Amino acid sequence: MTVCRICNSPIEAFMSFGRMPIANGFLTPDQIPNEYFFELAPAYCEACGMFQLIEQPAPEKMFHENYAFYSSTSRYMQAHFERFADLVQERVLKDRVDPFVVELGSNDGIMLRHFKARGQRHLGVEPASNVADVARASGIQTISEFFDSKLAERIVAQHGQADAVLSANVMCHIANLPSVAEGIRRLLKPDGILMFEDPYLGDMVAKTSYDQIYDEHVFIFSATSVSNAFGRHGLELIDVLPQITHGGSMRYVLAPKRSHGVSENVAAQKAKERDQGLDRPEGYAKFKANCENSRTRLMETLNGLRAKSARVVGYGATSKSTTVTNYCGITPSHVAWISDTTPIKQGKLSPGAHIPVRPYENFVKDYPDYALLFAWNHAAEIREKEKAYEATGGRWLYFVPQVEIV
Ligand code: TYD
Repeated sequence: MTVCRICNSPIEAFMSFGRMPIANGFLTPDQIPNEYFFELAPAYCEACGMFQLIEQPAPEKMFHENYAFYSSTSRYMQAHFERFADLVQERVLKDRVDPFVVELGSNDGIMLRHFKARGQRHLGVEPASNVADVARASGIQTISEFFDSKLAERIVAQHGQADAVLSANVMCHIANLPSVAEGIRRLLKPDGILMFEDPYLGDMVAKTSYDQIYDEHVFIFSATSVSNAFGRHGLELIDVLPQITHGGSMRYVLAPKRSHGVSENVAAQKAKERDQGLDRPEGYAKFKANCENSRTRLMETLNGLRAKSARVVGYGATSKSTTVTNYCGITPSHVAWISDTTPIKQGKLSPGAHIPVRPYENFVKDYPDYALLFAWNHAAEIREKEKAYEATGGRWLYFVPQVEIV
């Protein structure tokens, strides 16, 4: 028995995905003896609704100078963050004098570059120094530290309060969410807006996309849990905007209590979450059974392909794939190697399963018979790009929302 990271109520894991390495911990063979593992076990809190990991490795083990995720690798994501920045402009900054925007986890500057381009005051907070350096090199103001309430006070002292605080695929990484929420409240102007988006619990449960559960994602948010967690720090959920990114995300809009009107979307989304069973044990018992069935079907398929000596490779050495390979027991005998465009991952082994990661050029040079689509959330972009692979008879193996060969 342990306690909720938000409200301290007792919680218990409803399932375990077993021993897991760091999802972005791509490694060289000599590092295998020292590979770090922890137990990946999710729980949800019946009191405040927060879906969370029981155990999370120390942040320094995940977000450091060798952090392997560069946001700008996807063209679609670049366009997505341009639209996000436009919305902030339209909905928050339009009529404000000399506005100030802060982004938490600004990575390589994929979103802040649009504020910089307008000559607006901006600040990125990005603890992974390698990606922060990429942002700085293009003139985006960035500090390389972990955000908390102390850093919030320093930022206010130096720059004043913020009109908008933003983050994308970052808030759900922060175990110390109460300190971050408190810091954001101090950082925001009394009429400021907090807008952030993360993979959405409702989509994950509906699609059995259990691969969203990995070390970095200490929380998978819902409208209910976000409203409760930030409400404790004087921030009110005023709108929710569903997004298609990362296989189904939610953008949450929050503001200091009673500073803005509340959209009816908020109550409607919370009602949907109750209808989906996200507030009770049965909802998660069903999710657990769906994860187990998905694993069984995926391994039946991969074992079948191996039996007929088909050439199978992975497409996209995503963080998510670490949960899939380790939970299902996928080995290099099933998936010979994984194609990925990120230089820092190439030539290394995937965490835990130790499947070699090779440059994308190898995929194009010698198409496999089947590609296991680990980057399923980018399916539209990838299928568009890989028409030639399909034309030569190459097939895709999907596992979300169900296991199928297309
Ligand atoms: P993403 O789903 O954004 O990652 P995560 O699960 O880590 O959040 O996928 C990004 C990874 O997929 C990254 O390593 C680059 C790789 N990738 C390709 O190799 N080719 C592609 O066309 C795309 C879109 C991604």
